[in-house]
Amino acid sequence: MKHPVLAANWKMNNGPTAAKTFMDTFLAGYPLRGDRTIIIFPPAVSLTTVAIAASSRPDVLAGVQNIHWAEKGAFTGEISAPMAKDAGARVVLVGHSERRHVFGETDAQCAKKCLAASRAKLPFMLCVGETIEQREAGETKALVTQQLRDGLSQTPNLISADFLLAYEPVWAIGTGLTASAVDASAIHTLLRSELHQMIGTRGDEIPILYGGSVNATNAAGLLTAPEVDGLLVGGASVEASSWLTIAQTGRPH
Ligand code: 13P
Repeated sequence: MKHPVLAANWKMNNGPTAAKTFMDTFLAGYPLRGDRTIIIFPPAVSLTTVAIAASSRPDVLAGVQNIHWAEKGAFTGEISAPMAKDAGARVVLVGHSERRHVFGETDAQCAKKCLAASRAKLPFMLCVGETIEQREAGETKALVTQQLRDGLSQTPNLISADFLLAYEPVWAIGTGLTASAVDASAIHTLLRSELHQMIGTRGDEIPILYGGSVNATNAAGLLTAPEVDGLLVGGASVEASSWLTIAQTGRPH
């Protein structure tokens, strides 16, 4: 069984001052443990704060929520993979549903971002997931498979250290609706088999995280579901007290 990965996506919450307070509280209550990995995805302005706070903790990684696919240039408001890495990012989110649905990010752009991350040797976490309309139309499996295949279309030679996958049904994000452990497992199992087809046994090592209204109450049940290797948490990760509970959610090893 893989070590679980517990990831906090703060979205547009916790600027540098709040990030420092969060990290002080969180790290004080969360002694080093070797049986799981924690990733914190702060807004880019708080990345350095989180990275510095976690610098002595191999089990706590700073991540960045988005990158541009170019290395540098005239792209006002964007940051590149090498820059994010330089600022302390150890992982990048690619294709989060808010990037796709609020900012119109396409599978082709996700593929370019995966390639940019891979060139910078910055591991990436590709996010896939269906809307409620797609779910009700019975399109979930085809859709997440296509998002996975298109997202990785420019990075065919992935190894497990390069890449994580997150299944986040759009209808479950920020709505209080969570996929049941059985439903999450069914999609994770499908994604695992797709990975296996794409990259063989290397696909067995890729952590697949579930996200969508995860909280301190439902985290344990989701984490024990087959093929759920971790959790990607939004709203319930913004406050250190709630995140402390989720980060320590048990699973026997
Ligand atoms: P919530 O946990 O707020 O539903 O957000 C999930 C998410 O989008 C994490 O990336």
